[in-house]
Amino acid sequence: MTAHSIPLAAVIGHPITHSKSPRLHGYWLRKYGIDGHYVPMDVAPDDLGVVIRAMPKMGFVGANVTIPHKEAVMPFVDQLSESARAIGAVNTLVFTTDGTILGDNTDGYGFVENLRQGAPDWQPVAGPAMVLGAGGAARAIVYALLQAGVPRVLVSNRTKTRAERLRADFGAQVEVVDWDEAAQAFENVSALVNTTSLGMFGKAPLEISLDALSPTTTVTDIVYNPLETDLLCQARAKGCQTVDGLGMLLHQAVPGFEAWFGTRPEVDAGLRDEVLR
Ligand code: ATR
Repeated sequence: MTAHSIPLAAVIGHPITHSKSPRLHGYWLRKYGIDGHYVPMDVAPDDLGVVIRAMPKMGFVGANVTIPHKEAVMPFVDQLSESARAIGAVNTLVFTTDGTILGDNTDGYGFVENLRQGAPDWQPVAGPAMVLGAGGAARAIVYALLQAGVPRVLVSNRTKTRAERLRADFGAQVEVVDWDEAAQAFENVSALVNTTSLGMFGKAPLEISLDALSPTTTVTDIVYNPLETDLLCQARAKGCQTVDGLGMLLHQAVPGFEAWFGTRPEVDAGLRDEVLR
C-alpha cells in the first residue's frame, strides 16, 4: 500500500450481516472527517488465512475479528498482545507498514472502560467481583477485572468445568461457585456481571434471586438487546448502580480505530444513538 492510498478496515465474521461495527466505525470516520472505509466481510472458516494474508496488499490497515474466528485467527498473527495471549482470542488486527500482523484483544478493555464510565463510583480494588458465565466473553472480562486490580473474581457457570478452566488459567484469585449457589454469593460482591446469553431477546430469562444483593453492588450485563435486561431492571429497583452492555461494544472499538486511522475516537451519545438506530 502506498502512503497516500485510502485506508481500509473491516470486520471479519461468518455470518456478518448483524454486526454493528460498520455503523460504529462509519460514525467516527464521518465525525473526524477521515477519508477511509470500514466494511463487513463474510469469510468462511477455511478461507480465513488466505483472506488475512491478502488484506494488507489491498490497502487494509487492520480489521476486527468476530464470531466464529476469534480463536482461529491466532495462527495467522505475527505478534500477539499480552491481553490476546492471556485471553486466548483476538478481536483486533493491525497490519503494520512493514508487513507485520499484530493481534490484540480489546474486549476486556472495552468492558472495564464501560464500567468506569457508567459507574464512576466503582472502585476495582474495593472488593470482589462476580461473573456469571464462563464462555469467551467471560474470559476477557475476568482477565480485565484482575488487570484493573479487583482482588478476587467469583465465577459461576452452568457447566462447572468451564469455570474451573478459568481458575486454572488465571490463578487462585478466581474462585468457582456452583451455579445452584450463585445467588447466595451475591452478598459481598462489589460488582456483578452477567456474561451469559440469558436475558437476551429470544433466549431464556436469567432466573436468579437478587435477595442477597446489596444496593452498593454495581451491576452490569453484556447483553444489550434489550438495553435494560431484567437483571439490570431488578438491580436498579434495589438501589444498585447499573451499567448496560452497549458501552462495552463501543469502547472495545476505540484502540483499533486509533491504531488504523490515527485518531483516538470518543465514545459519545451520538455514537450510542447511531448504533441503536
Ligand atoms: P460467549 O463466547 O459469547 O461468552 P459462549 O461461549 O457460548 O458465548 O458462552 C455462553 C455462556 O452462557 C456460557 O457461560 C453458557 O453456559 P455453559 O458453559 O454451561 O454452556 C451460558 N448459558 C447459555 N445458556 C444457558 C442456560 N440456559 N443456562 C445457564 N447458562 C447458560
